[in-house]
Amino acid sequence: MNDIPSTQTNYDVEAYRADFPILSETMRGKPLAYLDNGASAQKPLQVINAMRDCFEHCYANVHRGAYDFSERTTAAYEDSRETVRKFLNARSEKEIIFAKNATEAMNLVAYSFGKSLQPGDKVLITEMEHHSNIVPWQLLREERGIELGVIPISDEGEFLIDAYKDMLDDRVKMVAVTHVSNVLGTITPAKKIVEMAHAVGAKVLFDGSQAVMHMTVDVQDLDCDFYTFTGHKLYGPNGIGVLYGKEALLDAMPPFLGGGDMIATVTFEKSTWAELPAKFEAGTPPITEAIGLAAAIDYVSAIGLERIAAHERDLLTYAMQRLSAVDNFRAIGTAPNKTAVISFSLGEAHPHDIATIIDQQGVAVRAGHHCAEPLMNRMGVVGTARASMGLYNTRAEIDQLAAALDKVNAIFG
Ligand SMILES: Cc1ncc(COP(=O)(O)O)c(C=O)c1O
Repeated sequence: MNDIPSTQTNYDVEAYRADFPILSETMRGKPLAYLDNGASAQKPLQVINAMRDCFEHCYANVHRGAYDFSERTTAAYEDSRETVRKFLNARSEKEIIFAKNATEAMNLVAYSFGKSLQPGDKVLITEMEHHSNIVPWQLLREERGIELGVIPISDEGEFLIDAYKDMLDDRVKMVAVTHVSNVLGTITPAKKIVEMAHAVGAKVLFDGSQAVMHMTVDVQDLDCDFYTFTGHKLYGPNGIGVLYGKEALLDAMPPFLGGGDMIATVTFEKSTWAELPAKFEAGTPPITEAIGLAAAIDYVSAIGLERIAAHERDLLTYAMQRLSAVDNFRAIGTAPNKTAVISFSLGEAHPHDIATIIDQQGVAVRAGHHCAEPLMNRMGVVGTARASMGLYNTRAEIDQLAAALDKVNAIFG
């Protein structure tokens, strides 16, 4: 299959691989083919070293010490916020809130923005959401009597814009949609979604957990009201997520969690809140994680997200051709505009059996419902196996996956 031409000749994947120490490990005695980047990506030395440097040379808590190390760590933490601001092209650092992960960021919006909703107001999500963009709205429905509408998708996994249009009316106050599906790879028409929501006065939240590592995201250009992502899928550490919100909206929202750092004054009778972004960062924040995330952003930015995307498109084309030649292979999610994520079934083999058998060949993929059970029901499957590619993956790893799937076929006949 190496006759499939590569569209990018100046992408030195081997040089990037050398930045990720874990990629030279073996798994089950075989060379590692790490194809589970959608679950969590590996970390380059640049991230590991940035966190290590902080721990070794100036670590202290932030925003409270009057001594050199605390000032330096505070500066590094706040510089990281500026790096994220630039990465998303937000107007102000006040619009960047550090959270524990994307899940917490979405819960923050559902909880705090949700306080402004009344019984009968509507929130729209889609059939392809991750549980973290379903359950917080269900909790809100129980608490405030809102309605939750679900925008359907096509059999190929496309966002159905006409169905969305039919569901929009002035009772819709929030449209909360994934920017990229973690299962199908579908890229949703984000700008159009925002335009149409704003026309009826609704706000828009994008779950960008599977988007920011594959494309440039500009929140001003999208004009979305909220945007969330999680650090560990962007080659950064776990334990950190980001919420972008328009300043006026965040200003008007009540705090999510109470405690240190998020207050202006406290008496037993009454407390008042700190300015943004501190109002939404109660307690000791993810300090070294923010520093690691900024290093990850610097890393992908230095390579160039457009170049990463071109490399991944090339891999996707190669993988679809290579895997389609494997007996019983069926791809689930074939939207034309998608990232390098391939969910699939293989005849009657259960996804967990597929993943377990190919693990013996050194291949790491995810299997199961991918925290998207309603989507599994929509696609009529119990689960899928999923190969999700990142900036360091190669055609050789796709070949290793294909050969491992042949072994699954040999076992299941
Ligand atoms: C689309 C999507 N949204 C949200 C999440 C949740 O990310 P985290 O567990 O880091 O909060 C994930 C993780 O799998 C995801 O793929």
